[in-house]
Amino acid sequence: MDLGIAGRTAVVCASSKGLGFGCAKALADAGCRVVINGRNPDTLEAARVKLADSGADVVAVVADVGTASGRQALLGAANAVDILVNNNAGPPFRDFREIDHAALVAGVEGNMLTPIELVKSVIDGMAERGFGRIVNITSSSVKAPIAGLDLSSGARAGLTAFLAGVARTVADRNVTINHIMPGSFDTDRLRASLERTAWQRSVDVPIAVDQALQRIPAHRFGTAQEFGALCAFLCSAQAGYITGQSILIDGGAVNTTL
Ligand SMILES: NC(=O)c1ccc[n+]([C@@H]2O[C@H](COP(=O)([O-])OP(=O)(O)OC[C@H]3O[C@@H](n4cnc5c(N)ncnc54)[C@H](OP(=O)(O)O)[C@@H]3O)[C@@H](O)[C@H]2O)c1
Repeated sequence: MDLGIAGRTAVVCASSKGLGFGCAKALADAGCRVVINGRNPDTLEAARVKLADSGADVVAVVADVGTASGRQALLGAANAVDILVNNNAGPPFRDFREIDHAALVAGVEGNMLTPIELVKSVIDGMAERGFGRIVNITSSSVKAPIAGLDLSSGARAGLTAFLAGVARTVADRNVTINHIMPGSFDTDRLRASLERTAWQRSVDVPIAVDQALQRIPAHRFGTAQEFGALCAFLCSAQAGYITGQSILIDGGAVNTTL
């Protein structure tokens, strides 16, 4: 399917691996020029080479997206941004009683304020040019609570609510803002979290993995490719009538109809 976005410029934050990389790859496959990003230069360079080897027009920016200078570097590499995929690391799993004030603020900074700052920077240009697609990677925990990920869920729910009104102000300019809520995807982050779960339950990692798979009706983890394909569709020309929505992609794990 031709997504109608060849030649568009996409900034994909936090995309040297995992879900962000999946989005960058799918957008590059759709013909976008992609600006990718991460803090570790070696990981980022490996991602850049992988994309370039498959024929992508790719620019890599080593930067911390959580800083104003990092965001400036990312946007500077893009000139006019047609597509923005907001992504960042999430706060660690922790009992909420143990999260001190500074960590609370850092979580809100990372998963709510950082994406909002980027939206502020790009949205007027998108509206003026009559095309814009913004996708925020949030989490299924925005919809179905996971105790221990309270800061992550709260900051991402805040982002979702904040942008709900904003989305309606630019819908008539062919600018959309949507959110993707991943369940369990096979990334380094998931593997690290399963290792921690195994340690907490004093079981071997394969047992923790199997227990996690039993809770997913699809009995498997999602792939970054599947995630990227959904992201690319939400960024497509055809998706211009979808805005202000949060889309679950979780193999059926959240037991809900709506
Ligand atoms: N995987 C899942 O099952 C799942 C489920 C629900 C929600 N999520 C959320 O989805 C997001 C992505 O998760 P993932 O599984 O793809 O993680 P991942 O595999 O650990 O990849 C994270 C990526 O973000 C980059 N990154 C992290 N912090 C950054 C920063 N401050 N500035 C720039 N780049 C940064 C990392 O590179 P560097 O470390 O080199 O910077 C890496 O490229 C996270 O917010 C996570 O909480 C994931």
